[in-house]
Amino acid sequence: MCGIVGAIAQRDVSPILLEGLRRLEYRGYDSCGVCTVSDGGFNCVKTVEKVQALTAKVQQHPCPGRLGIAHTRWATHGGPSETNAHPHIVGNLAMVHNGIIENFAQMKEELLKAGYAFKSQTDTEALLARIHFLHAKQGLPLINAFAKALSEVKGSYALALIDRDHPETLYVARQGSPLVIGLGIGENFAASDVLALLPVTRRFIYMKEGEIAALTTSEVKLYDLSLNPLHAEIAESDLDAESISKGKYRHFMQKEIFEQPEALASTMMGRLSGDRVDLSSVAGFSKAALSDIDSIKIVACGTSYHAGLVGKYWLEELAGISTSVEIASEYRYRKAVVKPHSLFVTISQSGETADTLASLRLAKKQGYAATLCVCNVSASSLMRESDFSLMTRAGAEIGVASTKAFTTQLLCLLLLTVYLGALRGALSPEREKEITSAIRALPEAARAVLSGDERVSRLAEEFAGKHHCLFLGRGIMYPIALEGALKLKEISYIHAEGYAAGELKHGPIALIDDKMPVVVVAPDNALLSKLESNIEEVRARGGRLCVFSQGAGSLREDPQTEILTLPPAPAILQPILFTLPLQLLAYHCAVINGTDVDQPRNLAKSVTVE
Ligand code: G6P
Repeated sequence: MCGIVGAIAQRDVSPILLEGLRRLEYRGYDSCGVCTVSDGGFNCVKTVEKVQALTAKVQQHPCPGRLGIAHTRWATHGGPSETNAHPHIVGNLAMVHNGIIENFAQMKEELLKAGYAFKSQTDTEALLARIHFLHAKQGLPLINAFAKALSEVKGSYALALIDRDHPETLYVARQGSPLVIGLGIGENFAASDVLALLPVTRRFIYMKEGEIAALTTSEVKLYDLSLNPLHAEIAESDLDAESISKGKYRHFMQKEIFEQPEALASTMMGRLSGDRVDLSSVAGFSKAALSDIDSIKIVACGTSYHAGLVGKYWLEELAGISTSVEIASEYRYRKAVVKPHSLFVTISQSGETADTLASLRLAKKQGYAATLCVCNVSASSLMRESDFSLMTRAGAEIGVASTKAFTTQLLCLLLLTVYLGALRGALSPEREKEITSAIRALPEAARAVLSGDERVSRLAEEFAGKHHCLFLGRGIMYPIALEGALKLKEISYIHAEGYAAGELKHGPIALIDDKMPVVVVAPDNALLSKLESNIEEVRARGGRLCVFSQGAGSLREDPQTEILTLPPAPAILQPILFTLPLQLLAYHCAVINGTDVDQPRNLAKSVTVE
């Protein structure tokens, strides 16, 4: 959720920290701050505005120094304010934190008795005071005090800690929230995400759970919580610094929508062989482990959950595998019955979503035959902890509303379906050939749909001033309706609900009037005539319709009904292709409503707290 950066160098670190924060702002953006050390003192600047405002503030109140930490916040304990913003300072120590310290109240109570006073309402300040107490009052060397305090913590953290009296070391730790160490020449860094550090290095150590590190300009020492030294594996990132530029686009979300043809092409690269889907080269995939699978449990959150719902339709229909899909925050707290020969699948853009990760850890104790993740971030926790992984390869996704990650997740699930279907003999070679040739045509088909952007932007004007909206779909297009509604509400703040069109008459029809647009996803498929009856039910009650179709059936435009026709394409691609105009619709509505498209209020891209 929050983003943290730390740096120790032989040059001023504040430009590195501020650029790092700018790149991490997708993680949370209700306040931010930076703190460096110079001449034995802290230089700390904070704001309840965005990183751009912090950068301007730092120009007025410079933060010199070769050691520093910085933070962009998504509030958990204590509302957004300068006092609650990080870095927090207690005596000679300053710290930034991503995560939640669940037992902070108890910690605080004991520290109050020991004479500590607290400025903020945060859990972070309590933990920092505890470290300070162990170091300053009980005389433990700082790293020992840090490790001891962390061993008392219940909850999750990624932390960066500095001591103004000893500005030669930056301390970091990780448990439950992501943290990477970046290796420079004569300088070292830490951050919540490699993206923050790409301008200064490509060499990283991905910290594992329960690790602590001490960074100086010349070395990185890695320990466990008992301070036993550990070996650090160094990995090279293939992302480039440009992956977080908007290029010619106005917003990251717009750029990411238009990147989908290339993203989809890269998702399928090396995974199609002639008329077949071949996932045998995918990291860790073993035919032996997968050929016995006869049921699948998919667990995810948000948009990734919607991808799972689409996957269920494919896996059951094409591969004949019984599949159920659950929201991770629900799955992790209930007692599930695990069928034998069952595969546990997580789907996640970030690979760090706390509930999804907790569900995976639970599943590993529950007797699943194997675990697989569909994920966009290599070296993420989910990827490291799953038996198999299918990378979506969408490239860095910065806009908080997920777009290219979703469609590439869908493609991965389709590839997985075909692979498993063929492995089990449920899918004939002819059908496999048909689907693989459709998949090859997908990037071009996506490009054709995106070329209708202007028409969608005109349609979006219909939504100006509207407060509510319904999205309807049937069959495999029902989860697409859910995703369309989620996109619209999260970035335009128009209240939107997705419904299975057949459910209309069981409640939502009561809402129909001429002030609430009803968006219908109506491709040319076996359920079109059923959907047309649902459309008539809306029309008969004076509802305003906005239908995405392929020109089939008896649908006609009239003053109540606007039809946007998509180019013809193979039926198997419909869920992916019909997602695109819904993303564009949400985008244009948000632009018209003047919202912050890439950083909508109250949301964060990577939800690393439960
Ligand atoms: C947040 C994001 C969503 C995303 C969800 C799950 O809510 O704003 O866009 O779908 O988390 O994230 P994941 O990284 O697990 O796909």
